Order: sequence, then structure tokens, then C-alpha cells
Amino acid sequence: MYRFIKKLLFLMDAETAHHCTMMLLRLSKGFGFKYQSRKNHSFVMNLKFTNRLGLAAGLDKNGIAMDAWKNLGFGFVEIGTVTPRPQYGNPKPRLFRLIQDLALINRMGFNNEGMEVIYQRLKKEKPKNLIVGVNIGKNKDTPIEKAIEDYVLCFDQFYNLADYIVVNVSSPNTPNLRELQDREHLYHLMQALNQRSLELKSTTPKLLKIAPDLNTDQLNAIVDLIELFNWEGVVACNTTVERAGLKSAADVINRIGNGGLSGAPITSLSNERISYLRSKLSKHRIIIGVGGIMSAEDAVEKFKAGADLIQLYTGFIYQGPQLIKTILSDSRL
Ligand code: FNR
Repeated sequence: MYRFIKKLLFLMDAETAHHCTMMLLRLSKGFGFKYQSRKNHSFVMNLKFTNRLGLAAGLDKNGIAMDAWKNLGFGFVEIGTVTPRPQYGNPKPRLFRLIQDLALINRMGFNNEGMEVIYQRLKKEKPKNLIVGVNIGKNKDTPIEKAIEDYVLCFDQFYNLADYIVVNVSSPNTPNLRELQDREHLYHLMQALNQRSLELKSTTPKLLKIAPDLNTDQLNAIVDLIELFNWEGVVACNTTVERAGLKSAADVINRIGNGGLSGAPITSLSNERISYLRSKLSKHRIIIGVGGIMSAEDAVEKFKAGADLIQLYTGFIYQGPQLIKTILSDSRL
């Protein structure tokens, strides 16, 4: 059935197709594709996951289709990126398909309804037995020197309701955001969030979402800070700003312009980052592996690289609910 729906969706521009899909999922709750995984549940970060496959951040930024994700079989969902105030994001067009590459390029720019609206929805609609993480970021017009305030505001809003919080410092589509991955900035950001956790007596797990475009020094600094501040772990990775090795024509890629690349071209890049992090982080830190899971084989590779949980986004756009089923029914997982 998805093959037919996909034909229709791929006739539309990518963002319109996205909105139609989200509306369909919200209204139908995904029942047409309901899938019950027979996987055993697992405990990660003291949370009970019905399975270890999740929906990556950015697909359901506003948390409007949580029942659908659960019915489609996902064991967990990450909503967001949420910012303190609602924002429109970058001008359209801002989402592009590279069909030959099974990839997307996006420069959405954290379009979202803002933390208060999303909090109210989550409070009302969070399904039972579905782990929901909230991915938080800063508003575009918040200067980088004040970024910490935005993260603290979002943390305050969600710490009590989210099963885990992801601090997103890796989107290429908010100017200067990725500077927050540098040791100095990150130190202050993580310290502030730990301070706030302490004041609120919060034990909500905190993870850091990182870009795949980091050098070894930057990765080492991140590992040190995760250990120092005793965070639960890392989400690796976000989209890349690199364009190497794509099959799509160079002029098409140039015309698209800036943005983060996701899907098949980042599979091995993401796996390399996960392996490196796994070799450096202490055993009890969690890695959520994301980036280019387009098949059950890719899912297996993510776990082999050292992921504890996995997520996907672009694979769902190209293959729909069948991909979830294929992964969850694979005997190797
Ligand atoms: C994303 N991603 C993302 N990540 C994040 O932390 N916050 C966000 O708001 C978004 N938004 C977003 C929009 C679009 C259109 C895409 C394609 C991706 C990144 C996403 O969660 C994931 O890290 C990457 O896409 C890599 O995984 P896949 O897509 O290769 O499975």
C-alpha cells in the first residue's frame, strides 16, 4: 500500500508531502499499518522500551502523531526539535529529495509550534507504553551568547514529562548553533543544565545530539564532557554538511544549496562516529545510533558499531512503514 501512497506523495514537493503524511498519520493513528513487534522489551536508561527502534527527531517536530508511531511499531519517538518560542523556520523551499541517492537535504531551521503548545499536546496525548524523548534547541533570533537560557527554558518545560531529553547542538540550519559543540561552549551549557537538574531534583536522562562532521579533537572533548557531567549518552548523528560521493548531478546539488544531508549517503559516516564514541565512552553510557538506516542490514550494523538504541528518519520517507516491520522482524536484531 505504501508504494501507491508514495507515488502520490513523490508527485508533490517534499514539504507538502510531509504535511499530508503527518495529517494522515494523525487522523488514522497509523491503524492501516498497525504492526505488533514480537521483540522482547529492553531496559535502557532505566526506561522500558518495547523495542529498540525509534523515530528520529525532526519528522514529528510538534508531536502530533504519537499514537500513529506507536501503532506502526516504533518502540520510541523523539519529538522536536522544540524551541522556547514558536518559529516559522527558514524560507521555503527547504526540503529536497535526492532520489538517486536515497537521501534528503533539508534546511528546515527548527520550524515548530514552541514549547508551551507542544508541552500541552504531549501532556494530553502521550501514549502509554511509548517512550517519548524531547529534543530541545534554541530560537533562531536568540544570540549564541544567550543560547543556554533557551535550553534551560525548554528543559524546565519538559523535564517532568519527557522520558529523556536530547540537547541538540548539531543542526546545520540554525546559524552558529554547531559552535555549541566546542568544548568551551559545551562545558557551560552542560554545567547549566546539570545545575538546573539539581535544583529541580530531576533525574530525567540527558543526551547530546552531535553532528557527524566533527574532528577527533572535538569528539574527544564531547566524550570527556559526557563523562565529566555524567550525562546518559549521545545521539549520533545529525545530518552532514558534506556532499561527497553523491550520485545525483552536481548542478542539482548546487542548485539545492545549503542544508543537512541524510539517508543512505551517511550510513557509514554515522557508523564510524558510533564506533569511535563506543571505544571512548564508558560502558554504561548510551549511544542512540542514527543516520542512514535504510534496511535491516543497516540496523544490524548500527548495533554492531555499538549503538544501544537506533532511530531512523529518511528510510521511512523512502520505504514507509514496511521498513519498520522489516527491521523489527529480522531475527538478527
Ligand atoms: C532532521 N533531523 C533533525 N534532527 C534534530 O535533532 N532536530 C530536528 O529538528 C531535525 N529535523 C530534521 C528534519 C529533516 C527534514 C530531516 C531529514 C532530518 C535529523 C534526523 O533526526 C537524523 O539525525 C538524520 O536525518 C539522520 O538520520 P536518517 O534520516 O539518515 O535516518
